[in-house]
Amino acid sequence: MSIKIAPSILAGTFENLGAVVEKIEQTNAEVIHIDVMDGQFVPPITFGSQMVQSLRAYSKKRFDVHLMVQNPEQQIPLFIHAGADMISFHVEASRHPHRLLQQIKQSGVKAGIVLNPGTSAFSVAPLLNEVDYVLQMSVNPGFGGQAFIPEVLKNVEQLAKWRKEEHLTFEIEIDGGVNEETAFLCKQAGVDILVAGSAVLGTNDWQKAIDKLRG
Ligand code: DX5
Ligand code: ZN
Repeated sequence: MSIKIAPSILAGTFENLGAVVEKIEQTNAEVIHIDVMDGQFVPPITFGSQMVQSLRAYSKKRFDVHLMVQNPEQQIPLFIHAGADMISFHVEASRHPHRLLQQIKQSGVKAGIVLNPGTSAFSVAPLLNEVDYVLQMSVNPGFGGQAFIPEVLKNVEQLAKWRKEEHLTFEIEIDGGVNEETAFLCKQAGVDILVAGSAVLGTNDWQKAIDKLRG
């Protein structure tokens, strides 16, 4: 399976996110990564489902909504309605992750579970039959432009091992500090989807930056 690239609009200019999404649309990135932060689970507040609904008009690519929120069960129906193609929430923020994954999938949206760098892969082991993808954070969530935490690759390797042994089909996505060098390590460990904020949107040739990440 070839690697997918998911530029993160968090690294874009917030005064005109429509233009940012339109510009990603011109590249061959497969996915657009959208970071939703509530000021509770993480300190910053970004935007909600109405913003995502407005951005929908600017792109046909898959919208990957990464919920960094407490009580994700309240937000999920709103993002389904807004046109998300993939929705992930943090295992650390949910009391009933298995039920929530089922709800997302029943609506025809891909369901993902997210692990913070300090969370063990074993915490999502009972969910692996139910997920379409696991999002491993490679920085502590909340901010773009942080340094990649290499220890999280142990989680990725463990997930890839379980996937192989149990003939599962979930994808592995990684998010935070992805650049040309760390992308190589991620791919070796078994990652399928690379999220990249500053490594793409922080350059003046987004397509060239994406090509470099693909390697
Ligand atoms: C951080 C977000 C990331 C962020 C990554 O909490 O989840 O998606 O945009 O940014 P970079 O690639 O700059 O580390
Ligand atoms: Zn993210």
